[in-house]
Amino acid sequence: MADHLVVFTPSGKRGRFAEGTPVLEAARQLGVDLDSVCGGRGICGRCQVEIGEGTFSKHGIESGARHVTAWNAVEARYAAKRGALANGRRLGCQARVTGDLVVDVPPDSQVHRQVVRKRAEAHPIEIDPVVRLAFVEVAQPDMHDPASDFRRLQAALAAQWGVEGVTASLPVLATLQATLHAGEWSVTAALRGREIVALWPGLRERAHGMAVDVGSTTIAAHLTDLITGEVVASAGLMNPQIRFGEDLMSRVSYVMMNPGGERELTSSVREALDRLVGDVVAEAGIDRADVLEMTVVGNPIMHHLLLGLNPVELGGAPFALTIDGAYEVPARDLGIVIAPGAYVYALPCIAGHVGADTAGVVLSEGPYLKDELTLLVDVGTNAEIVLGNRQRLLACSSPTGPAFEGAQISCGQRAAPGAIERVRIDRQTLEPRYKVIGCDLWSNEPGFEEATASTGVTGICGSGIIEIVAEMWLSGIITTDGVIDGGLAERSPRIEATGRTFSYLVREGEPRLSISQNDVRAIQLAKAALYAGIRLLMDRYGVDKVERITLAGAFGSHIDVRYAMVLGLIPDCDLSRVASAGNAAGTGARIALLNLRSRAEIEKTVLGIEKIETALEPAFQEHFVNAMAIPNKVEPFPELAK
Ligand code: FES
Repeated sequence: MADHLVVFTPSGKRGRFAEGTPVLEAARQLGVDLDSVCGGRGICGRCQVEIGEGTFSKHGIESGARHVTAWNAVEARYAAKRGALANGRRLGCQARVTGDLVVDVPPDSQVHRQVVRKRAEAHPIEIDPVVRLAFVEVAQPDMHDPASDFRRLQAALAAQWGVEGVTASLPVLATLQATLHAGEWSVTAALRGREIVALWPGLRERAHGMAVDVGSTTIAAHLTDLITGEVVASAGLMNPQIRFGEDLMSRVSYVMMNPGGERELTSSVREALDRLVGDVVAEAGIDRADVLEMTVVGNPIMHHLLLGLNPVELGGAPFALTIDGAYEVPARDLGIVIAPGAYVYALPCIAGHVGADTAGVVLSEGPYLKDELTLLVDVGTNAEIVLGNRQRLLACSSPTGPAFEGAQISCGQRAAPGAIERVRIDRQTLEPRYKVIGCDLWSNEPGFEEATASTGVTGICGSGIIEIVAEMWLSGIITTDGVIDGGLAERSPRIEATGRTFSYLVREGEPRLSISQNDVRAIQLAKAALYAGIRLLMDRYGVDKVERITLAGAFGSHIDVRYAMVLGLIPDCDLSRVASAGNAAGTGARIALLNLRSRAEIEKTVLGIEKIETALEPAFQEHFVNAMAIPNKVEPFPELAK
């Protein structure tokens, strides 16, 4: 029988196939990325291909026409049920090779499609499914064949999908017989490797997973389509552990003081995750049982508490983790109701203070894939810092305290409507103007009072405090040592004596908001700790300059990077190469959800990261003292002058 040359694009894979070979079969033999859920029965529509050059069969008869929408009875049935195929498209499982062909596999027919990210510098996410859907027709039970339903399902998956020896947990097996009956012996299995994690009657084409960032203040969840990679619903809530302590250390103290307290903290975070599942599936209009996998990131204490590991050792030196590697556990063991056999995969922790959230940032930003020397900074009450490139990666944490989040500042508050987030000070008059979250107007513009009537002006958030202190320095209100210059009181009524020091009045009226000497000190201490940690990593790497700085987390999203550099929070760097990555930790969780290989990649990368313990480094103190000055006693910032 004649054979024909078939070339697939965009892969370029090619081979010779006998007359009549289905295109899907040719693709499989060549390892071409062409999707299929129904196994070639012409019902899922996932195998669509386009003719590049040449012809496909039509009922075994050659036809070069490219505008025919249904070419054979199966495709006609598909088109009647699901709508006509686009011009020039055919079902790969129905089209047969009848001559030399160039076949294009469009992106929506590829399993390993790429999900483009919004930021230009962010690498796309390639889908490499953790869970695959496989439709099978299972032999009916027979008095003459005593094989169990599960054994016949195993045989069907082996014969129709080449997956031998599948397994299933008891909760999945408990659904098997009812599912087989409902589907009249046709079912779709969700396969995680060789394990079935869910079963549905008939054909099932949608698969979902959930990526979760467990922060100490908020928990954010993104329900993601495992086939397209799109986020289809998001939800967030305050971490209910807050009732046990506002910050991480007070929660660890709660566990120390209250025997069994860790169980309370564990159940509260697990219940929160389960509630979030309910929220996102309701928004997306799917069932809990349709969520086939969950990935989580979090700092080491959140990570341990979610997994039910006592975090007490993380409360003091030497900050020993119970486990640092990635860990996966059936969701049901955590009390999270999703698909009966679904797993929760927790990304690895890097060190006692550098958690799975930072591993998520590393996975999202991929410094280990690049030559350029990248600094990643995730600022919370602890700054988690990573520096490096494909040659080497270093990490440390630095105790910045909560000042950058607006805590421990006399008029500070969390970022919320009504909080001042932008500030400018007139260099001559020393008069301030500001913007609050939720209003686009500056405070000196007409309409500002009316526009903020509902929220009021309530305080100053972390990014606002950075700007005020930087503007105070640029205006000469504070000295390089951070002292508010009382001599300026003669020039401006905004410089007010408060005991033996001075403060700067930002807003009169109710509430009266001013920046005290203690507030400036708190910012100096926080920024010096951050800079000293960064500088230690640069020392260890042996560089004086970094090529890119990426700020992760909520703080990084709001901060004006120029002001961060004016204050000396971050080292000198071309400002066009300093950017916020938004919730990079959450993006890392999403990548781990969508791409199986990325899990091995981040697990290996984390093992290779050199961990620096700031408390043990004598140079930390020296860097810290130098960084107390604004911007720094010894370090130059030439990029700021450009
Ligand atoms: Fe399902 Fe072709 S493989 S329609």
